[in-house]
Amino acid sequence: MTALIVGGSGLVGGALRHALERARIAAAITRFRGERDGAIELDVRDEGSVRACVRRVHPDLVFLAVNNPGGVDRCEDRPDEADALHVQGTRHVTEAAADCGATLVFYSTDYVFDGTAAPYAEEDRPRPLNHYGRAKLAAERIIHDLTPAHLIIRTTAVFGWDRSSRNLAMQVWERLQSGGTMRVPNDQQCTPTLADDLAEVSVRLVERNVRGVVHVVGRDRMVRAQMAKALAQAMGLDPDRIIPVPTAESGQRAPRPLEAVLRTDKMARLLGEEPLDFDEALRRFRRQWLADARA
Ligand SMILES: NC(=O)c1ccc[n+]([C@@H]2O[C@H](COP(=O)([O-])OP(=O)(O)OC[C@H]3O[C@@H](n4cnc5c(N)ncnc54)[C@H](OP(=O)(O)O)[C@@H]3O)[C@@H](O)[C@H]2O)c1
Repeated sequence: MTALIVGGSGLVGGALRHALERARIAAAITRFRGERDGAIELDVRDEGSVRACVRRVHPDLVFLAVNNPGGVDRCEDRPDEADALHVQGTRHVTEAAADCGATLVFYSTDYVFDGTAAPYAEEDRPRPLNHYGRAKLAAERIIHDLTPAHLIIRTTAVFGWDRSSRNLAMQVWERLQSGGTMRVPNDQQCTPTLADDLAEVSVRLVERNVRGVVHVVGRDRMVRAQMAKALAQAMGLDPDRIIPVPTAESGQRAPRPLEAVLRTDKMARLLGEEPLDFDEALRRFRRQWLADARA
């Protein structure tokens, strides 16, 4: 079996690479900025390049884990740019995957929900509040319409030790380690999800040939400020330098659902296991951080 990870240089893509390696599934990876470390350079907005890349690798599985720098706020500021990546890019990859008979695994988000009726099951009606959520929902629908051979994994608050990533853990590290403080919302609920665990669960779902939408998130619910303080502590930094603030004072430009918590009953039923708890996720994260700090 061969896999292609589109966005293989990202946080989720990098974790997938390791998880596939452990599962002995050969994987080719793409990155946006330059062909290096064995990765293929690919811009998903370029339909011809996507087709050529998929033809070249001829994968059985395509993981689509691309994201735009600047994240949710940038999508709000530049909706056309967001649509080109998340909507049109998804269409290009889905069509190319379907044409070569590959199964598509797509990473979506809790932001397809508005946060007023949590916790959300997979079949609950989405109602995104921001452009990022609308673009990801449009992408989900394109996939649904174009190929039955798909797995859509909705996740949230993904964290991991990865120096090229801007995930919350890395932001906490950069700001606090250089002596600064960080303002983090104290009213946005989340269920922190360790990137490595998300990747391992993704591979287990694929190995069981699961199709459709599945929520894959960590077990414990908390506000983002609490998550940031715990991450600071795990990296030996002063958690008091995390300043909890209401979303309205956080400087975030796109509206956020305050409680878009996802149910994980389906995942637990499919795999016969509960989601990873935050303490264990933190222990694993700390080992990654220590290994890199020592190196
Ligand atoms: N992180 C979270 O908390 C979270 C939560 C919910 C859902 N998700 C979803 O999970 C997926 C992965 O997120 P992530 O956090 O791993 O993202 P990330 O770390 O920002 O990585 C993004 C990846 O996309 C690539 N990329 C950027 N623009 C591209 C383009 N035009 N064409 C092709 N590739 C492009 C990047 O390549 P370069 O490295 O070369 O720039 C990188 O490999 C996304 O679809 C996101 O919506 C993430």
